[in-house]
Amino acid sequence: MNPASSTPETPAGGNPDPAVHSLRGRVAIITGASRGIGRAIALAYARAGAAVVGNHAPDQAVPQDLLDLIHAEGGRAVAVQADISQPATHAALVEAALTHFGRVDILVNNAAVKGKMPLLEVTEALWDEVQHVNLKGPYFLAQRVAREMIRAGTRGRIINVTSNHEAKALRGSSVYSISKSGLGMLTKVLALELAPHGITVNSLVPGSYATHMNREAMLDPERRAAAGRSIPLGRLGEPEDLVAAAIFLAGPHADYVTGTSLRVDGGLGLV
Ligand SMILES: NC(=O)c1ccc[n+]([C@@H]2O[C@H](COP(=O)([O-])OP(=O)(O)OC[C@H]3O[C@@H](n4cnc5c(N)ncnc54)[C@H](O)[C@@H]3O)[C@@H](O)[C@H]2O)c1
Repeated sequence: MNPASSTPETPAGGNPDPAVHSLRGRVAIITGASRGIGRAIALAYARAGAAVVGNHAPDQAVPQDLLDLIHAEGGRAVAVQADISQPATHAALVEAALTHFGRVDILVNNAAVKGKMPLLEVTEALWDEVQHVNLKGPYFLAQRVAREMIRAGTRGRIINVTSNHEAKALRGSSVYSISKSGLGMLTKVLALELAPHGITVNSLVPGSYATHMNREAMLDPERRAAAGRSIPLGRLGEPEDLVAAAIFLAGPHADYVTGTSLRVDGGLGLV
């Protein structure tokens, strides 16, 4: 272990915190935390002891119920509005972490849009929107957060929420698949470039989850049931299915894990 490590709760040269799910003393920035998977990770991180900066998009209200729940349980959280596709907005997220909690240990690049459209109908505007939210935003936010982690000597964690379409083509969803494939490559390149600083970078890979992103299928009971049947474990994922893996990748037991993709998909990636 790097003696310069300033990661709290992990004794230098010693064993990691014995509490598998402890993020005590850590500070996490989570994008797209107003609903779905991002919200579940924000709540789980706060319950595990982390202070949370939860980002919400300009078209989303402040996730007050989430803040209230975290505060009622004795946790720490603030919400920051920012359009993640615009790198100029990213400073506000890092500043919020430093101002309110004094450091940044964890970044979860979760925010994304789907933009499903057959290739022959894709417009330049759709391409730009999806690539800017799903890839350009995470790229420059990771760059900004990594700079801060290196400045502070923090052995931080960056987690990119990708998709099975990181590696697998999805018919009718070329723009999304390309953005997630790029994000998966960002994980690998960043893992290499940031390893000398003790910063780990991993992809967290949902399969098919019952969230707003899949709202059309969720509203149709037949499509929902069929989607469940197509998954080896026989059901769609719920945001809570992903949180243990998100805590693992952010926590002390993942000190030696970098550049990997952790699928939490009920086996969907196998079929
Ligand atoms: N739901 C699935 O089946 C599934 C499958 C694979 C991967 N994923 C990934 O999981 C992550 C979370 O998705 P979800 O299922 O919770 O969907 P969701 O639509 O409920 O959540 C997406 C979040 O991103 C936010 N967001 C969108 N554009 C933004 C912007 N410009 N700036 C800031 N925030 C913005 C939304 O407001 C929302 O909070 C995404 O990266 C998605 O690609 C989801």
